[in-house]
Amino acid sequence: MSGLRGALLLLAAWALAATVVAAESVTPKAPPPPGWLDAPLPDGPVGAAIAQGRRILGNAPKYAAEYSGNALTCTNCHLDGGRTRHAAPWVGIWGVFPEYRPRNAKVNTLADRVNDCFERSLNGKRLPLDSPEMTAILTYMQWLSREVPTGESVPGRGFLRIEPPEPPSPERGLALYGRECASCHGKDGGGRGATGTAEFVPPLWGPKSYNLGAGLARLSNAAAFIKANMPQGKAGSLSDQDAYDIAAYFTRQPRPDFARKAEDWPQGGKPKDARY
Ligand code: HEC
Ligand code: HEC
Repeated sequence: MSGLRGALLLLAAWALAATVVAAESVTPKAPPPPGWLDAPLPDGPVGAAIAQGRRILGNAPKYAAEYSGNALTCTNCHLDGGRTRHAAPWVGIWGVFPEYRPRNAKVNTLADRVNDCFERSLNGKRLPLDSPEMTAILTYMQWLSREVPTGESVPGRGFLRIEPPEPPSPERGLALYGRECASCHGKDGGGRGATGTAEFVPPLWGPKSYNLGAGLARLSNAAAFIKANMPQGKAGSLSDQDAYDIAAYFTRQPRPDFARKAEDWPQGGKPKDARY
């Protein structure tokens, strides 16, 4: 083969490959779901604030230590940086707040809602509204929501809604917990490892878990979270009944109290599965 012919063949092969790549990037099979995927951050101070928000949400005990009260961080429940359907995703959240919530019978801003999870799910303290931490968190959430129209809830917002076919059985739940959950979360529900490390598994109950006022302390939310997201790596493998039985077992275990619980649902409407 002459040198020239070889070079021409190579060139032809390269041109063909380039055409294929170009064709794929021009007509992708489906448009990438906005906000749900990794994308480059904007340059400058806004990009830096987004990155800082993502760091805090991924390890609040380290980056918002003053306001955290347990071993959990936000993304232990709002999975994959708040980008998982049926794990209360944050994609689109910017445009749906302010929102009226019967729990405090007020119109809540997104910052109020963030602080609710700090106080309850992290058993910690409310962030000052003008703190750099709050600004970073809101900037990250706005960035995730950047292509969702204002006022629109994304499909998969919040949790699944499931009902148990039979009344939930904590006894059956204990056996299922031993089989499906204890290898990671521990027999005593205490989890393992340090927050933010690869071996970390968050606690499900006990002093380092979320408090009685948290959304996941309620049976229906716990069951729905488990059904859609656990056991990790086998999400969706449990029946609705299994998820309820396991949730019935572990939501009855001891956890920190929530001091201001008497102020909740001031206008009524307290759900039956609230633990106070
Ligand atoms: C123990 C689990 C857990 C942890 C940890 C947690 N959350 Fe939540 N979060 C929930 C639950 C449960 C809801 C309510 C979902 C629903 O209403 O369906 C929620 C709701 C939210 C919402 C509103 C979502 C919506 O669709 O209206 C925001 C915003 C939020 N959390 C932010 C945070 C932040 C910020 C942190 C960390 C400081 C955090 N969460 C930590 C469980 C958790
Ligand atoms: C292979 C290990 C593994 C198994 C098995 C597993 N989990 Fe998890 N679980 C995790 C990890 C890790 C997280 C945190 C996810 C993250 O940060 O992305 C988590 C998060 C959770 C959370 C939210 C955070 C918290 O601490 O409340 C709940 C609730 C939960 N798991 C319940 C269960 C239940 C119930 C089972 C059994 C049906 C189960 N898990 C099985 C590893 C596991």
